[in-house]
Amino acid sequence: MAQLPSIQNAFILIEDGRIADYGYMHELEIKIPQLPVNVVDVAGQFVLPAWCDSHTHLVFAKSREEEFVDKINGNTYAEIAAKGGGILNSARVLNETGEDELFRSAMVRLKEVSAMGTGAIEIKSGYGLSVEGELKMLRVIKRLKQQSDLSIKCSFLGAHTYPLFYKENHEDYISSIINEMLPVIAAEKLADYIDVFCEEGFFSVEEMEIICKAGAGYGLKPKLHVNQLNSIGGIQSGTGLGAVSLDHLETMTNEDIQCLAASNTIGTLLPTAAFFLRMNYQPARKLMDAGAAIALASDYNPGSSPSGNMNFVVALSCIQMKMLPEEAINAATINGAYAMELQDEVGSISKGKKANLIFTKPIPSLAYLPYSFGHNLIDKVMINGVFI
Ligand code: NIG
Ligand code: FE
Repeated sequence: MAQLPSIQNAFILIEDGRIADYGYMHELEIKIPQLPVNVVDVAGQFVLPAWCDSHTHLVFAKSREEEFVDKINGNTYAEIAAKGGGILNSARVLNETGEDELFRSAMVRLKEVSAMGTGAIEIKSGYGLSVEGELKMLRVIKRLKQQSDLSIKCSFLGAHTYPLFYKENHEDYISSIINEMLPVIAAEKLADYIDVFCEEGFFSVEEMEIICKAGAGYGLKPKLHVNQLNSIGGIQSGTGLGAVSLDHLETMTNEDIQCLAASNTIGTLLPTAAFFLRMNYQPARKLMDAGAAIALASDYNPGSSPSGNMNFVVALSCIQMKMLPEEAINAATINGAYAMELQDEVGSISKGKKANLIFTKPIPSLAYLPYSFGHNLIDKVMINGVFI
């Protein structure tokens, strides 16, 4: 994780939106005798692979800054959720909002995060919590995939929380997920993954397993919310289910860490959610020492992380979780790509991969990026070989 190969005084050749070649400047004339038409001189600047943000809830109808103020006044996340706030608040407004408006506002956010260096992103449903609402969200994400230049993966999170109507009748909501939502999702190819919020007061381990097994029947692999507030067996179950990633991980026992490290599942840490909810940060160092693969993502959502700025995620990981700048950049690029199974397309400067690149302003070193947290050090962003 601490090794981030780099070339000083380098060239990158981009053709048809992809990285065709790279190397030392002094090799340029031998490798490319005929200089391409467009040459951009970026002396003094760093060129990095664009961020791969593998966990977001970027489609939502309304911000929730009232709850933010409630929390400042002393209410907890769980208390706000119990009063019908939180995810249910977002679900109520989303069900009242039209598909076009949801698409429009999500596209604005997508452009905002891409200007901040994100080139690939995972987006979840989970604010519908009804057949129509979940399908509406997933159709919005499908349109974003079709119309955005970013690489996008979609996770179905119908199991984000129980709608009030089903609060005492879990079986019927799970049955609606399995029998009413999943068949349409599969038929319309609306999702790549299945997600469940496995947590006390939300979905139990057993309920998560039932939902994931039904998803597997339609070819949806799990990417799961586990161990945010409590350690209730989500790691053991999630790795057993063959999850591509297990996300959050604020609350991890030593057994959880060992179990994740022994698996092929990536642990996705969401430090801005811990920051915003004033919780303990994820045990990044312990996970890396144990041999677990970890990625960093923004968790962009209106309740627990109202920011999709991956530069801040990287800075926070170095400042609060003591990740080295190289470790944090690897976790936010190539490992994020793995957490979306996009590692052959994005996440590193490699021949044949998409030319999704961040050009920094002139900076003295790579460590200067997380060190100067909060500053905008991005000069330009390139997506598929085009400056945006
Ligand atoms: O990843 N923890 C569950 N879901 C989101 C929060 C959703 C919300 O509060 O709207 C998360 O943090
Ligand atoms: Fe999340």
